[in-house]
Amino acid sequence: MKKTIKDVNWEGKRAVMRCDFNVPLKEGAITDDTRIKAALPSIEYLLENGASIVLMSHLGRPKGKAVPEMSLAPVAARLSEYLGKEVKFVSSDVVVDDTVKAAAAELKAGEVMLIENVRYRSEEEKGDPEFARELASLGDIFVQEAFGTSHRAHASTTVIAEYIPAVSGFLIEKELKFLGDAVNDPVRPFAAIMGGAKVKDKIAVITSLLDKVDILIIGGGMAYTFFKAQGYSIGKSLLDEEGLGLAGDILKLAEEKGVNFLLPVDVVAADEFANDSPHDVYAVDSIPDNRMGLDIGPETIKLFTSTLKEAKTVVWNGPVGVFEMENFAVGTKAIAECLAELDATTVIGGGDSAAAVAQFGLADKMTHISTGGGASLEFLEGRELPGIAVIEDK
Ligand code: 3PG
Repeated sequence: MKKTIKDVNWEGKRAVMRCDFNVPLKEGAITDDTRIKAALPSIEYLLENGASIVLMSHLGRPKGKAVPEMSLAPVAARLSEYLGKEVKFVSSDVVVDDTVKAAAAELKAGEVMLIENVRYRSEEEKGDPEFARELASLGDIFVQEAFGTSHRAHASTTVIAEYIPAVSGFLIEKELKFLGDAVNDPVRPFAAIMGGAKVKDKIAVITSLLDKVDILIIGGGMAYTFFKAQGYSIGKSLLDEEGLGLAGDILKLAEEKGVNFLLPVDVVAADEFANDSPHDVYAVDSIPDNRMGLDIGPETIKLFTSTLKEAKTVVWNGPVGVFEMENFAVGTKAIAECLAELDATTVIGGGDSAAAVAQFGLADKMTHISTGGGASLEFLEGRELPGIAVIEDK
């Protein structure tokens, strides 16, 4: 068990809290603040228990330079709204300077400030000890709350823990519980749904899940590489050339392990990658040469949803079609609706599937939606996440 903020007496202490405020922005406005909301319970707990807080995060990939479009200023404003108190934004192009240090030192119990995007400094991603020490100097205790970035061994996510004690926030605790229980102690039958474009990106997680699940469902762009490996022609559909051999290996492995391994039986294929492109349903052995598969078909929806109805634990990572286009969102929506109705633990593995579930207004019908895209995938692979490893054990 990892130590959490509940294991610390916060009276008079200053927390340096790493969050994942890497939120999508459009023309400077936040378009999805799920990750900001997810950090609020820990922030509120600390402030109510006598602490002051220096918050930090990355946003985007500014590659070691100050990029104004990637400033955390909009995040400070949104946090202030939610907390009902000012979150002082102390911005510096070098992230930590004397002004930032003085502002941190002046914080009183119950006060909170946010510093600038830690990736404005190239030392962040390099895990530079000197930069980590500077960040650590801003407080007494490191609170790891950035689940979405816990697969990165950066100065603000791991190296900082060499200088001050590290505990987790409530979000990390929750993520570890739901993702951990799902893969290590699932109520069975245990089903995983894997979508997305590239076999190569998902190979490790699929291989690892084949040892754990009873049912493995493959959808999305990746399915076409499996069809190709089975000898079907896939027209203009997405092919992950590099993943072709791997897809063949997975098919063999699934058979050896006796997993109920399901691929689509029919697809919706269109002329072009566009919502208004003419499209029809085809069995997987008759995809025309001039069309590309963009969604699962109605027979597949029946097959997948009737199989999922048996499941008591479901992990879903990756949409099964191009859900961003209304005409090709049908399959992903059907899966989301099926999971919403299930009497089962349903865990959504972040990224695109989380966005899809939110788009269909079904987020509150799932047991847990991870705030980690890459991080949840690496966790499901069974890898140790460096940002979690540094949290002290109880
Ligand atoms: C994410 O959005 O997955 C995390 O914030 C990590 O971002 P990164 O892939 O740029 O490290």
